[in-house]
Amino acid sequence: MSSKSSSSPLNSVTKKQIMGITGLLLCGFVLTHMLGNFLLFVSPDAFNKYSYTLTSNPLIYLAELILGLIFLSHIFMAVKLVLENKRARPVEYHSRTKSGRGSTLASSTMPISGAITLLFLVLHIINLKFGTHYDTEVGGIIMRDMYRTTVEYFQDPLHVLFYIVCVATLGVHVSHGFWSAFQSLGLNHPKYMPKIKFASFAFGIIVAVGFSSFPIFCYLQGVK
Ligand code: HEM
Repeated sequence: MSSKSSSSPLNSVTKKQIMGITGLLLCGFVLTHMLGNFLLFVSPDAFNKYSYTLTSNPLIYLAELILGLIFLSHIFMAVKLVLENKRARPVEYHSRTKSGRGSTLASSTMPISGAITLLFLVLHIINLKFGTHYDTEVGGIIMRDMYRTTVEYFQDPLHVLFYIVCVATLGVHVSHGFWSAFQSLGLNHPKYMPKIKFASFAFGIIVAVGFSSFPIFCYLQGVK
């Protein structure tokens, strides 16, 4: 990253730190979201109760606002860094070798994998959060049947395929992003870096495989 080419009040170091912090917070969100979704495998009631507990808490609006701000900061800084990089090196986007990070497919495609993730997130929210609304009763409480909406949505194999491609792309994004964030935050002690890189790679696989299991499971519910 070039810090001298920046005319912005935020120098590139600060931008990278914001990228690192927001990226790690988003990794935390992705992980907890995935763990919650595993309740799909337990039972429709367990999944619906989990979804109801989250959405009926008035603090959800504050949590959604904070999450939205984290996403916006991440995207805003990413666009700024990509444009600065383009200006500094019009031919090659990521000259990671110069910064000691080494260039990989995952590192050089961060803007593309990020953009695909953004498109995916928007469609995901439209199709599921604002998708068909059914009601169900669990333990005497009327709540949204999110299980039915989700299973129904994934009866279309194209939805399954699209979701899998997108979560695999997110897996690639975080497989580089997770360890890159440590580097951006200066937490890159040579002794721990190989372990952090391994954890990053493993996290990418877990995200891709874990999230892919949901549409496949939902699709198979209809096949039974
Ligand atoms: C759940 C979604 C996301 C997660 C978990 C995530 C995670 C991360 C992490 C951990 C990093 C490394 C930060 C660093 O090197 O300091 C990163 C970098 C990056 N992200 Fe994301 N991200 C997500 C969504 C997005 C979106 C929606 C975009 C753009 C539209 C995006 C674009 C980028 C770019 C371009 C970089 C590289 C910046 C650079 O080093 O020059 N990301 N992401």
